[in-house]
This record gives sequence, structure tokens and C-alpha cells, in this order.
Amino acid sequence: MKTKDRPEWLDDALFYEIYPQSFMDSNNDGIGDIQGIIKKLDYIKDLGCNAIWLNPCFESPFYDAGYDVTDYYKVAKRYGSNEDLKQLFDQVHKRNMHIILDLVPGHTSVEHEWFKESMKAERNIYTDRYVWTDKVWEPISGYEAIRGYSERNGAAIVNFFSHQPALNYGYYKVRKSWQQPMDAEGPKETLKEMMKIMKFWLDMGCDGFRVDMAGSLVKNDKEGQGNIKLWQQVRSFLIKEYPEAVMISEWGEPDKSLKGGFHMDFLLHFGPSHYNDLFRCKNPYFSSKGKGNCKKFVRKYVENYEKTNKKGLICIPSGNHDMVRLSKNLGKDQQKLAFAFLLSMPGAPFIYYGDEIGMEYNEELPSKEGAYERTGSRTPMQWDDSKNAGFSEADKSMLYLPVNKSAKKVNVKSSLKDPDSLINEIKKLIKLRKKHEALLNNGNIEFINAAYPLCYERYSREESITVVINPADKEESIKVKKGEIIYSLGKGAMIKDGKCTINGKSAVFIKNES
Ligand code: NOJ
Repeated sequence: MKTKDRPEWLDDALFYEIYPQSFMDSNNDGIGDIQGIIKKLDYIKDLGCNAIWLNPCFESPFYDAGYDVTDYYKVAKRYGSNEDLKQLFDQVHKRNMHIILDLVPGHTSVEHEWFKESMKAERNIYTDRYVWTDKVWEPISGYEAIRGYSERNGAAIVNFFSHQPALNYGYYKVRKSWQQPMDAEGPKETLKEMMKIMKFWLDMGCDGFRVDMAGSLVKNDKEGQGNIKLWQQVRSFLIKEYPEAVMISEWGEPDKSLKGGFHMDFLLHFGPSHYNDLFRCKNPYFSSKGKGNCKKFVRKYVENYEKTNKKGLICIPSGNHDMVRLSKNLGKDQQKLAFAFLLSMPGAPFIYYGDEIGMEYNEELPSKEGAYERTGSRTPMQWDDSKNAGFSEADKSMLYLPVNKSAKKVNVKSSLKDPDSLINEIKKLIKLRKKHEALLNNGNIEFINAAYPLCYERYSREESITVVINPADKEESIKVKKGEIIYSLGKGAMIKDGKCTINGKSAVFIKNES
């Protein structure tokens, strides 16, 4: 089912998210790097993923793991050089894969040269690059501010942490003298610069961007209209010059982001999606206790699906660098069921590095690079049972974060050998997804049941597949169409007289008779 309104490679893209600090260290300084990623590309491909999302890898003081950029045009030394990144692009493409970078357009580090210039009393080309009030003590509602560092008399509004001043894209509704409209010179220049940055990396060979906090660039924009307008301008530029570039937003409201021209949007662990109800709440739906509730998730999903013309380009990630790992709340069998769901839903699946082997969330770590409770999900990848889990040859004391204690048992090498492992189940599911058009990214979906068992039909013009997943530890049954079971997990199910009786902690995919 091909569509013309987005790059074709997205139709069967399956992403693997890499947090570069912790993936693979090639020069033994204790921190992951680009050459390390290159070494592991075959692993990612063998898993079945054909696309990569790389977290920020640009110059930064790393107070927010790189989401605090000081030079958008330069790879951070600790990861290598621009030349290394170019090599990564080439190596990815050689394997018929794609790679998107993380674009952080909403803010920079306070240490960025632009901000240093912007703090000066004398006007210069960066004076309006950030959002400044007219007076240092001006109260600002809804935002923290940086006060007291600048020569100029004003406060700079903050986008996230206190060291991340907001770049100026203007205000949708201007209410104060210091708030500039979107079409003022300053905001227009900021956007122009951001497009220049995109152009720089696209020319070098990157295939698109995951865009950080995409829905919050324009301020005083409750309904998102200003941000939609802003991203539509970016889309027009890309369509003209880089029609193959893919844009994926961290927005969490697909009805808005897709209107803004993004090809896909993430469901997030905050915001209105109820994504947390599935895997990360007191009683997650996917826990075997069977006390979860996915109704609100499904209702919201369907609402978005309808609003986005049934394009279904909504990404439901297995996790990411901002949330606790899947394994925190779910045991191995439940994680398998979670992947049966994630890999049979529309939209491109995203696997967070390490989730494929059920890596643990380490609760005990102090914050690293502004991660706080996110630190436990950012530990070194567990490749094997050798020194530092095969992540680095460096002395243990030099590692970016300590390797999880479980690494002797939970690692890629041993998982690949174990026929019952999570990774082997995931590989099986990916193969199945690729074989059936109905299961692919823009195949359709219709929910049949949003209690236990979860049941939905995926269909394309050629075929239809009913997915039945029962995470609860209790047999359930549901009416289904006539068909043949093409995938079975756990103790599976029996189909008789139009009824599917599914065992507890099991899943089946049924190819319906046409
Ligand atoms: C979202 C990113 O995923 C997160 O890691 C970061 O801290 C904030 N945006 C700020 O850029």
C-alpha cells in the first residue's frame, strides 16, 4: 500500500534508537562513539531493523546528555568527527538502511556562542535569537527564566532545564511588548538557521530528523496553530529540496503534528495518549495480573487515527532514553507479548537499544548528564559476558555509566543462542511483519476489543490479520473470523465455531480467510 505523500522508505521502516554514549565504545575511553556504532550495524540489521534514530551527537557541555547543543554543525569530540558521522551515513546506506538525527530546535545550551552574543547589551545579529523580556525582573507566566547573567537588561525564557534558553520562533498570540510575532525578523532568522542546519546534515547524507519538543517552539500557542504553521514552512522547504527526508516529531499529538507536515509522531510517556497505561503505570495492561486497562489508550489512538485520515503513522516506541525500561514492570513473557503488540501495530516501530534483550532499569544510579530518574535506562549495552559486557575495554572506573549487574546473564551473545529468548521472539515477529503487507506501517487497523484479550484487525487491500493478545494470566475468549493461525506465543489459542479461546499470557495472529 504505497502512498505518495511521504518518502517510500518509511512504509517498511523499523527503527532502532541509539543513545550514543552507551552503545559501543571503539576507542576504549569508556564512552560510546560513532565508530562503535558502525561496528554494530550488522547486528542491528540482523535484528531486522532497517533504520536508526541517533540521539544528539553534537558539541555540547552535556548537562542534558547533548540536548543542550553548543554547535549544531559539529559532532562532539567524544563521539568522533563529522567525517565519522559521514562514514556512518555511508555504511548505513550500504546496508540499505536509513538513519535520522536528533534535531533540537527549541533551545541551545547557555554556552552556545549565539546565547553569549545575545546576552550582550549592544545589538547584534543574535540579539533576537532567544526570547528576552525587556527588564530583568519582568514576571513570565508559564516559563522559568535565566536572570542575572547578561549585560543586557532582560530575562531569557527557559525551554527545559535552567541552562537551556528558548530559541525565538515568535509568539502566536502576542500579549507583551517583548513578545515578537512569528513573522518578525528575529523569529524568521531562527527558523532560517534551523533549516540551514537541516540542510547541512541532509547534504552529508542523513535521512531525516527526530525533532525534539516539536510542538512547543512557538509560544502562546495553546491550540498548536502557530507551531503547525511553522512546521508547514519546513515541510515546503523539504518537499522542494529533500523529498526523501523523513520528519518524526516528539509532539505526542498526531492530529496536530501530521497537519504540520511531520510524517509520524511519537506517543509519549506524558501528554494525552495514555501510552503509560500499557507498560508503565501501577497496573500496566501488559502485566499478567490482568488488572490493567487499555480502553483510554485505544480510544485516544482511534481518535488520532481517524483525525489523521487513517494514515496510522503514530509511533509507539518500546521505550526511549526518557522513560523507565519496559522490563521494570514486565517480566520476560510479558515483554514478549508487549513486542507482539508493538510489532503488529501501524506506524514505524521503534526499539530502544537494549530493550530487545530485556535490559534492566537500574534504580540505584545517581543522575548522569541531567538524566535523573532516566539514568537507569541509559546504561551500557550488554553485548556479551566479557569485560564491561563487551561495551568497552576501558577501566571500569572510566565507563560513562556502570554496566548492569545482570550483564553476565542478560546479553546479546547469550540471548541469540537461546531459542526462547526475547530477542529471538522479536526477530520472528519482525520477519512476520515484513512478510505481511497488512501488518506494515500504513496497513489499516480496526479494534475489536480493548479489554482482555486485546483484539484488533490489521488489513490491507490483499489480506486481513486478526491479532489477539491476552497478557492476563487467565483464559479468555473472543469471536473471530474464520482463519488460520500464523503466529502463536505462549500457550496459544484454539479457534472453534468462530470463537478464539486464548490461554493466559498468550498471543495469536490469525490470517483471515478471504
Ligand atoms: C526531550 C528529550 O527526549 C529529552 O531527553 C530532553 O531532556 C528534553 N527533550 C529537552 O531537550
